[in-house]
Amino acid sequence: MKFSMNSRLGSVPPYVFVHLGKLKMKALSAGKDVIDLGQGSPDLATPDYVIKAATDAMADPKTHGYPIANGLLEYREAIAAWYKKRFGAEFDPNTEVLPLIGSKEGLGHLLQALLEPGDGVLCPSPCYPAHINGVILPGGKPLLMPLKEENGFLPDLDAISEADLQAAKVMIINYPNNPTGATLPDTSLLVKALGLAKKYGFLVIYDNAYSEITFDGYKAPSIFEIEGAIEYAIEFHSTSKSYSMAGWRLGFCVGNPVAVEALAKLKGFIDYGVPSFLQRGAIAALEGPDDYVIKASKTYGERRDVLADALKEIGWEVSRPKAAMYIWTRLPEPARSLKSLEFSERLIEEQGVVISPGSGFGPEGEGYMRFSLIQSPERLREAAKRIGIFLSSLKAAV
Ligand code: MLT
Repeated sequence: MKFSMNSRLGSVPPYVFVHLGKLKMKALSAGKDVIDLGQGSPDLATPDYVIKAATDAMADPKTHGYPIANGLLEYREAIAAWYKKRFGAEFDPNTEVLPLIGSKEGLGHLLQALLEPGDGVLCPSPCYPAHINGVILPGGKPLLMPLKEENGFLPDLDAISEADLQAAKVMIINYPNNPTGATLPDTSLLVKALGLAKKYGFLVIYDNAYSEITFDGYKAPSIFEIEGAIEYAIEFHSTSKSYSMAGWRLGFCVGNPVAVEALAKLKGFIDYGVPSFLQRGAIAALEGPDDYVIKASKTYGERRDVLADALKEIGWEVSRPKAAMYIWTRLPEPARSLKSLEFSERLIEEQGVVISPGSGFGPEGEGYMRFSLIQSPERLREAAKRIGIFLSSLKAAV
């Protein structure tokens, strides 16, 4: 046999949520009542007006052909109008806006479109798994920027070595942050990142997929609130979290036209983008009223408090992030001898509760676990109760 997985693909671990999904299916087929707090797949319903716009469009045979390359102009215009309204930033829908099959697809393909083997990418750790693995798959070299708890899970840009700055072709930044839930206190980190980008000539990829899911009055910025950012930045966004449309696979990016063109060209060889009728749904989402995201944020914020309170009752103190839909926390005392993956696997097997192991988010994630706030308060309390039983069994075993 002459064919096998290439060495780069062979070198990365399986996508963490694929692994958890398999374990969940095994537990379900063994008859377990599974509470899934693993992948951040919103459980809320997509807005009715979005579903109506998509189904009406689907009834029109004109939407049944191949989608237009680069997406519907109306969708690109709706994206540009949304950015203007939300962040005050202006983009040319023809050259600076690109619809995507979810932001994950765009991130992965942009890295493929930009990197030569050996090119450096300044990448946070922990991070969304598609960030670091998206660098490795096309032969890039991740130059890790540790996100330390004592720094509020922000990278220390002053600590990056001159050699890494010289070697970097791209820097990835993501706030509100997945997996930590950390937020930017202001835009100073972005200003500094853009200053470095200008000095060293690299592109800043700003992953802003969680900007609309915020709590306690926090409002997340865009990198394009900073004057001149388009020279060195591209920003990724998604309808998955804001409008509970994860399964629709609808994301988009805006920004530097050279980066947008490279991504669009690569995608031209690989996909036809999102079906046109689904793009019609995304237009309705972006043009719709703000109430949906306000209500969704309120729901996730309440769940954050329910889960944090319930975990406190079982002796697991966690912090309360101001955004995104995750609680990121160190393994509790009785479980500190376990690797995060082992904790996760045993918890699914013994208690039917799925939470993500920190190691799935890069080397600095080991020792942490991530909870997704994608279940009702009742199920979150039940999950915490079962975790309490699991922790007691660990204590009893020592
Ligand atoms: C997550 O981190 O759970 C993501 O948002 C879902 C994914 O894209 O894998």
